[in-house]
Parts: sequence; C-alpha cells; structure tokens
Amino acid sequence: MDQTIRFILNGKPVSLSVDGERMLLWVLRTDLGLTGTKFGCGKSLCGACTVIVDGEAVRSCGYPVKDVAGKKVLTIEGLARDGRLHPLQEAFMKHDALQCGYCTPGMILTAYSLLLKNSKPAVSDIVDALNWNLCRCGAHTRIIQAVQDAAGTLTRSPTLSPAFQGGDAKRGSGLTPNKPRHSCRGVEGLTEGARHEKR
Ligand code: FES
Ligand code: FES
Repeated sequence: MDQTIRFILNGKPVSLSVDGERMLLWVLRTDLGLTGTKFGCGKSLCGACTVIVDGEAVRSCGYPVKDVAGKKVLTIEGLARDGRLHPLQEAFMKHDALQCGYCTPGMILTAYSLLLKNSKPAVSDIVDALNWNLCRCGAHTRIIQAVQDAAGTLTRSPTLSPAFQGGDAKRGSGLTPNKPRHSCRGVEGLTEGARHEKR
C-alpha cells in the first residue's frame, strides 16, 4: 500500500506517495529520473547502486524507500556544487579512473562516505572501503589514486567540502552497512600490492 515518504534529496525536500517496500534504486531511477544511480546486480553485491543516506553509503537496490523517511539522501547528481564538480569527480577524470563508467557513481559515493569519516585515508583504508564495489573494467588502481588525490585536495582546501553531506559523518569502517556477506574481492583482489605502498 502506498504511503507518503518525505526526505531530503540532494539538498531539496521530496514528498512521494509510494509503496514503502519499493527499493530506493527504482524510486530514484524510475520515479524521479535520477539515472546516475546504476542497476548492476540487484542483490547488494556490486555497489553500482550506492547512494549516501545520512552520511553512510548504502546499496539502494536493497534499501526500501520507507527507510529514507526523514533522512538526507545524496546521489551522484547532487555531488557537484555551484556548477563545479566535487574534487572526487575531478580526480576520477584526472586519473582516468574509469573506462565504461558504470561503476563510477557507486565508487565515487562510497569514497565520499569514506572521506567523511577519514579525511586522510591510507591506501589500505581506501582498499577496504571500496573492496565491495566491483569494476568490471579493472580501473581499480587508478580509482585508488583518484581517491588519494581527492583526499589531498580536500585536506588542502576544506572549503571545497560539500555543504550538505547527506547527514552527519560518523566514525566507522567506511564499509557499506548492507555490504555482501560473502567476499567479492573487488578492489582488494586486484590491488594486493597497493596495500604495501607507502602511506
Ligand atoms: S545493483 Fe545494488 S549492489 Fe549491485
Ligand atoms: S569503469 Fe567499467 S565497470 Fe568500472
């Protein structure tokens, strides 16, 4: 049965009459036309559908829309500000940290969640945070470089931090709350050597 769900989406209030069990992914993509959030596996395994809810990266394909009531949601469409890309977006471009780009919104928003909690992540922190996001094109090494670069930019210029963060940052592991229970070994599987790089 439909219910009224109110939340903040990319800084603006939204009110929807919708089945509360409908997954957030489809509300964003189909109902609201925000197709930057991607459908990959539909089983909370790949991370393509990642968005930020109250500061945490969540997998919208397994996240009922009723659970965002009263919360702040940030999608890839809301990351740029005042016509300027977020430093993470700029760093992904600078480092060619994508090929097909399908995983990119989820990668960027998962990294965004990490940087909310840990502004100076070591390589191992980035690998841990992104390990549950899969990239079929194998851009993992460049993705890690981009996140490091963006972290440096944000540390040097904190005014570039976004005004609305989708909620309060909390200290934590940086892993998505609904990460898969079995390992997909995404970033980690292809970047074991990166763990030993100089921090
Ligand atoms: S589509 Fe949601 S995790 Fe793959
Ligand atoms: S850039 Fe193609 S899946 Fe990651």
